[in-house]
Amino acid sequence: MSLAARALVYTRAFLGASIAGAVGVGIGTPLLVAGAGTESTGNLLRSERPLPTAFTRRLTVPRVLSPVRSDADGDHYRIVQTAASASIVPGATTRIWGYNGTFPGPTIESRRGRPAIVTHVNRLPVPTVVHLHGGRTPASSDGHPIDFVYPPGMSHHGGHGGDSMVGDTTHGSREYTFPLGQRAATLWYHDHRMDFTGPSVWRGLAGFHIHRDEEEDGLGLPSGARELPLMITDRSFAADGSFRYPSIDPGLLHTPGVSGDYVAGVLGDTMLVNGVPWPVAEVDAVQYRLRILNACIARRLSLRLDPAPASASGFAQIGTEGGLLGAPVRLDHLGLAPAQRMDVIVDFSGYRPGTEVTVVNDFDDGPMGKVMRFVVGRPARDDFILPARLSTVERLTAEQAVTTRPFSFRAGEVRGGPGWLIGQRAFSPGHIAAGPRLGTVEVWRLRADFHHPVRLHLQPFQVLSRGSEGPGPFDAGWKDTVDLRPAEEVAIAIRFDGYRGTYVFHCHNLEHEDMAMMANFVVR
Ligand code: C2O
Ligand code: CU
Repeated sequence: MSLAARALVYTRAFLGASIAGAVGVGIGTPLLVAGAGTESTGNLLRSERPLPTAFTRRLTVPRVLSPVRSDADGDHYRIVQTAASASIVPGATTRIWGYNGTFPGPTIESRRGRPAIVTHVNRLPVPTVVHLHGGRTPASSDGHPIDFVYPPGMSHHGGHGGDSMVGDTTHGSREYTFPLGQRAATLWYHDHRMDFTGPSVWRGLAGFHIHRDEEEDGLGLPSGARELPLMITDRSFAADGSFRYPSIDPGLLHTPGVSGDYVAGVLGDTMLVNGVPWPVAEVDAVQYRLRILNACIARRLSLRLDPAPASASGFAQIGTEGGLLGAPVRLDHLGLAPAQRMDVIVDFSGYRPGTEVTVVNDFDDGPMGKVMRFVVGRPARDDFILPARLSTVERLTAEQAVTTRPFSFRAGEVRGGPGWLIGQRAFSPGHIAAGPRLGTVEVWRLRADFHHPVRLHLQPFQVLSRGSEGPGPFDAGWKDTVDLRPAEEVAIAIRFDGYRGTYVFHCHNLEHEDMAMMANFVVR
């Protein structure tokens, strides 16, 4: 049985039991509807206007931001978070919230050991928080969900269930310092405000951060026009072209959460790559490096090339969230849960010039079953030979662990309504769920009811097992987000060797995160 088919059976078997369970604890509404062929936990939100025609607009690549200055401390950047108008769907403009007014935001490029110091100016009508996803960052710049950057004139807001919380807040702007002493990897930055991350990211607050180093330079990987960052997001649109999203409080200030049908997750009906619906890209018949990011709010993806290239497997995976793998892994499809990244080499030289190669998503059979299209051009000079070894990846083992912690990720009651819990608890900014010691290795056993892409801040980890089996085909290397599937238990090994301080771990289905599936750990 294929992996996909097995996951499907898994999901079906589990759904009935879990809905019954949720009703049993008094949640009431049959909220846990799995959508998109049950491969994602969430519900399809339909656009109120015709879908754009696929494969008509060209892929664009977000522009790389130049530092405002560089000095002994590092490279200094300035980003203004602001509302702006974007042309996303034909015949209308879409009001977005963007970093420098663009969606995706500008790409920051950095090199190992050279800090990036980014001043974010908030000109939005809500507080914001910036998190560099994948960065090994001191807690003061990691974007804890209550470290608000208030827009000018606002000093407090009433949301967050009335919790009284004091984070490390600033007014108007904040300087985030990212040391970036870590190995090369595809990182991304996005909003992380408690209770309102989903709608803020949906409106556009997400961008790439590409981090490089000499080890990677030495491999001579395809670069320049042959290196493409691809941010895949699903969105839905209202009749007037604005983003449609089922917030209870569209002002995103007071009442968190989404209306009942979408508590399991919001699945858009329009696929965007780098902010363009179902784009098309012309490529030479050579090897390309694709840095693929699933930036969907709740949608899981299973990507494949159609037609498949002449060489049996379509992709050579070279890297994951935490950077290069030890050796390339040949894959005919790529599984990506929300927030996960895969760095892959695709060889277009096996196609005849003129071939249209569609990136399909096997987790859906409608319009969302297609992602984008490459049109293969002429052969060109290509000196790249994929090395058999890429990097050295130390292997963490269960024996190194000083402790094992179990955490369940399940539906439950939050503030008297439906929500999501870790270890039976709703997120409370003052509660500490784990206190690992700096320099130690721990094993965490993560148990799921539905799909939960679980993300730990600070340091990457390794997958030890899925249920009674070893790591899955997409679990190789240093991960920062692991794809928990329904009724599954995944063991991960983490070495807490970054910094001391308070960090969060959470589900990266952003509706789940906003509806309390988050907890703190403190590295002591
Ligand atoms: Cu994209 Cu807390 O993470
Ligand atoms: Cu979840």
